[in-house]
Amino acid sequence: KLNTRWESQPDYGDIITTLPVGESWNLPSNFYKYQRFWYTPEYLKAVISAKQRFKPLDKDVILCTFPKSGTNWLKALAFSIMTRTKFDFSSHPLLTAPPSTCVSYIEFEQAQGINASREFPLTSTHIPYSSLLDSIISSDCKIVYMCRDPKDAFVSWWYHVNSFMGNNKEPIISLEKAFGLFCQGIALFGPFWDHFLEYWKASLERPDKILFLKYEDIKRDPSYYVKKLADFMGYPFSMKEKADCCVENIIEFCSFEKLSNLEVNKSGKLRGVTVDAEYPAKIFFRKGKIGDWKNHLTGDMANRLDRIIEEKLSGSGLKF
Ligand code: A3P
Repeated sequence: KLNTRWESQPDYGDIITTLPVGESWNLPSNFYKYQRFWYTPEYLKAVISAKQRFKPLDKDVILCTFPKSGTNWLKALAFSIMTRTKFDFSSHPLLTAPPSTCVSYIEFEQAQGINASREFPLTSTHIPYSSLLDSIISSDCKIVYMCRDPKDAFVSWWYHVNSFMGNNKEPIISLEKAFGLFCQGIALFGPFWDHFLEYWKASLERPDKILFLKYEDIKRDPSYYVKKLADFMGYPFSMKEKADCCVENIIEFCSFEKLSNLEVNKSGKLRGVTVDAEYPAKIFFRKGKIGDWKNHLTGDMANRLDRIIEEKLSGSGLKF
């Protein structure tokens, strides 16, 4: 069932009636498949508006992620790297604003004309590579993509949907049912394998323009990847900065422990996909660990998802 906001948008309404419909995760509206990926009507509207309204800045760095892959962490790291000569850690914007306020989304704020004139050439998106704007693909923008073991991304998604939509007593969708849909590729911005593979292949074709990262790799060797990220973004650390522990300080400042304990991320609010929706910033800081799926998925479930990952990614060179 479409909500009224959607129905009052004839241009999107015309498109949506032509799209395949999929069962959503007990969300108020169905999922619709647009250019191979699943969206709720609000998200679809956001993605289409972004195509029409977003204008990249010169030298933009665009952080692209599959949802629940550590977007907020990547935003904090990239923002801290880019702005390190402007702010020191005692009066840093990340102390008083969640990472998603410091680095806006193309499909949300930017598509709605909010924060359209950005101070720094840094923005973010969950839009799949094949649906990105031509103006990004053909520009000098750099793209940093991050994904995560789908088993952990799934568990993180399940908690996110329940804390965002639920009443905190009953989950709005059971873990088993959500898992079945996720395995069919039916999740917001899913199928995850196509989301990963499109960016993966593009990163192999254009390594100077697209850096492909995994959550697990950064967790295991943050120093190497933060330097790599800074080099790629065009903001390399000098010898002096390295000697002054600048890399280690950024890693510590952006750590889960530090960010999740800031008052702004414990009790702050964030704008949702629509201007009139708000949700607690804390739902983006749950555990921040590799392998929490072991506490939620049975052995059979994990094997099933592992087989899907192997089959879908086979031959690509991408592995988890
Ligand atoms: P969990 O639910 O597994 O804890 P996104 O930002 O893309 O929505 O991803 C959210 C996930 O990233 C959550 O995973 C969250 O806890 C984790 N996360 C948030 N900040 C992090 C940080 N600084 N370091 C590592 N993981 C972080």
